[in-house]
Amino acid sequence: MCGIVGYIGNEKASDVILKGLERLEYRGYDSCGITYYDPKQKTFITNKDRGRVLKLLNSYKYPDDNHFAIGHTRWATHGVANQNNSHPHFSQSQRFVIVHNGVIDNHKELVFKYLNNYEFVSDTDTEVIANLVEEFSHKLSIEEAIRKTISLLEGSFAFLIIDTENIDTLYAVKNKSPLLIGESKNGIVLGSDVLAFINYAESYYLLEDNSFIIIKRNNGDFSFKIMDTIGFELEKPEKHKMDFVTDEIGKAGYEHYMLKEISEQPAVIRKIMSQYMVGNELKVSPKITNMFEGIKKVYILAAGTSYHAGLIGRVYFEEIAKIPAEVFIASEFAYNEPLIEPNSLFVLISQSGETADIRSCLLNVKEHGFKTLTITNVSSSTLAREADNYLNIFAGTEIAVASTKAYVGQIAVLAILANTLSKQHSLDLVSEMSRAAVSMENIIDKRDYISEVVGCSIKSHDCFYIGRGLDYFVCLEAALKLKEITYMNTMGIAAGELKHGTMALIEKDVPVIAIISQEHINNNTRSNLEEAKAREATPLIISLENTSKGNDDIVLMDVHRLLSPLVTVIPAQLIAYYKAVELDYDVDKPRNLAKSATVE
Ligand code: M6R
Repeated sequence: MCGIVGYIGNEKASDVILKGLERLEYRGYDSCGITYYDPKQKTFITNKDRGRVLKLLNSYKYPDDNHFAIGHTRWATHGVANQNNSHPHFSQSQRFVIVHNGVIDNHKELVFKYLNNYEFVSDTDTEVIANLVEEFSHKLSIEEAIRKTISLLEGSFAFLIIDTENIDTLYAVKNKSPLLIGESKNGIVLGSDVLAFINYAESYYLLEDNSFIIIKRNNGDFSFKIMDTIGFELEKPEKHKMDFVTDEIGKAGYEHYMLKEISEQPAVIRKIMSQYMVGNELKVSPKITNMFEGIKKVYILAAGTSYHAGLIGRVYFEEIAKIPAEVFIASEFAYNEPLIEPNSLFVLISQSGETADIRSCLLNVKEHGFKTLTITNVSSSTLAREADNYLNIFAGTEIAVASTKAYVGQIAVLAILANTLSKQHSLDLVSEMSRAAVSMENIIDKRDYISEVVGCSIKSHDCFYIGRGLDYFVCLEAALKLKEITYMNTMGIAAGELKHGTMALIEKDVPVIAIISQEHINNNTRSNLEEAKAREATPLIISLENTSKGNDDIVLMDVHRLLSPLVTVIPAQLIAYYKAVELDYDVDKPRNLAKSATVE
């Protein structure tokens, strides 16, 4: 979702902002903008519009001596994606300029109460913040005006605000939405993600909620102080070294990040194995297993792809660790108030560790005293920091909006967790996971074949994945992949449910793809596929060697029944990828979607 970058320093600020915004592109956006100070003209210049950061870069000239700027990528929440609604926004008199990530829930009430005489030029809630600061600045100092504004805002927000009458100071506020500070000898950079700091910071700081930061230029030096919202100065948080391998964030010769990330999956499994290897077993640490002592039930909360990994995690908790488990879509859990067993533990699964729906659940269950464990790809993320403990999936930075390697990483870590908790250590995970990695590699090597299958068989605008048990959960993920990057109308259906309604949608040439990796339901799923074939659907079968029959279309090297999702998902990811390429869509940045959903 929205990305913000701000800079004050010796470098060309517009470069820092535009490179930073490009690094945040993966979060998803539909418009972008920048405001910088031009010392020759002694004024702030703003360029903003619907479209890509590249347009901001190529359509305007930026003077070499600009050293103070803020920028934004906007994922529309209030108001359509157009130039007017793009950030930065100005207060009515143009004195204050702001970029904002998040949602102000009470913006209408605030306008009614404080800003009746103000005219708004956009549909955004952001303009309200700028105008509140302006309104309060008539009677208060700027710092006080910002603090008073913060005290009135309800919702999630991280914003940067410039007082155009002071070209040496940048103000920043963080509450619930992500914001970090990067530092180098040359200046200070702020951003929604540490990726924005690459090449411009040597170290960075993670900020707590309700932080108000003042960044100053002072005789060629740059400094910042962090205050709480009352005005007390806070100690600086722990300083982290920027240790990014730039390779990790490049495409490494692949045409798209998504294909690169699909191809990295066997390596992710091996990396996880190396990180969790204790002696010759795969295990989580005693610090984690101790958390489960006396636990009667596990609740898994997640969203999207991570929720699909959670569905598989539930099976692992129950079948391997023998602990009853339930999975909830985080945004549903937050408002449905299910009856929770007293001795329960919450597992939160999130690639980014920043998903707002999950975070609101986390705060809630913590308040009720439950133990919490995050499984994430980002150890510096909010969910990793705020849960009692976290497990890293070591997938490396995932840039494509469509999640692939994080999904398999989550499943692998869930398997290791459940197996460590099982009294008998029921699975020989070392050999089973190694085998899964080889099977994954085999199918990735045959990806040209999948591209041919797509060309021949996926021709309609609708598509259905069917499967049972674990296969059904993979079907949900397979359908999500296909719909998010090809915009095809796709559903993942429990094979047995097809006849209970969805069969009405099956017609000539609609692809129905069956995933069959579980021997005990092999024939059942095949019968359901026959029913679809009888309606002239185009059938496709993804099976394992030991469940395959006759002329199955995609046969994968055998793996342990419980680890089959690691492998069966790969042809589905490739089907989505090649179909999106065939349709000439922006594979890595599908329309309307954000990588990190930081608003509820
Ligand atoms: O970062 P998270 O895992 O919490 O994100 C949750 C979903 O937004 C995410 O999995 C989304 O569904 C994927 N981009 C889909 O590929």
